[in-house]
Amino acid sequence: MLGSVIPSSRFLVRRTLAPIDWSRARVIVEYGPGLGTCTAQILQKMRSDARLVVFETHPDFVSHLRETYSDSRLEVIHDSAEEVEAVLTDRGFDGADYVLSGIPFSLMPGEVRDRILERTRSVLNTDGAMLVYQFSPRIGSHLKRVFDEVDWSFEPLNVLPATVFHCQVTP
Ligand SMILES: C[S@@+](CC[C@H](N)C(=O)[O-])C[C@H]1O[C@@H](n2cnc3c(N)ncnc32)[C@H](O)[C@@H]1O
Repeated sequence: MLGSVIPSSRFLVRRTLAPIDWSRARVIVEYGPGLGTCTAQILQKMRSDARLVVFETHPDFVSHLRETYSDSRLEVIHDSAEEVEAVLTDRGFDGADYVLSGIPFSLMPGEVRDRILERTRSVLNTDGAMLVYQFSPRIGSHLKRVFDEVDWSFEPLNVLPATVFHCQVTP
């Protein structure tokens, strides 16, 4: 369920985060931060009053994230992205402005993938977006089924080259 053992390149991180309007992002969610390559960039760019909630299933990465990033705006959840609705509700958040995902959708059972996509759609605020980077472009058809608008681009400067999807819900 790792997808890749090599952290994302700065080119892929930059491309994935490019659509984010940092001035209005109050609640940001990340799925599968791994060692925290994207997490570190998000923490650098996000507002001082914004919150970042990350979901990671691998216990070693969870420990690493908790030890490395001591930032009161960050909460590391040791659980699957499937729990996004329950966790945001439990924390009193109305929804998320952006959900960033690096989890390997092509390696998980279809019902888990669909549950994560549908629950992500349900937590996204109006004008919010799900930003997905994947080494296989196959997730595209599933994203189009769940979201109203899906754009994508390709980042060759990464091991492995990746497709980045920008998924939106229209009001
Ligand atoms: C390809 S790595 C991404 C690493 C990192 N985001 C980066 O940019 O280098 C995928 C990560 O997703 C995590 N993961 C897999 N399934 C998950 C799930 N259902 N919920 C949360 N994290 C998951 C894995 O443990 C792994 O850390």
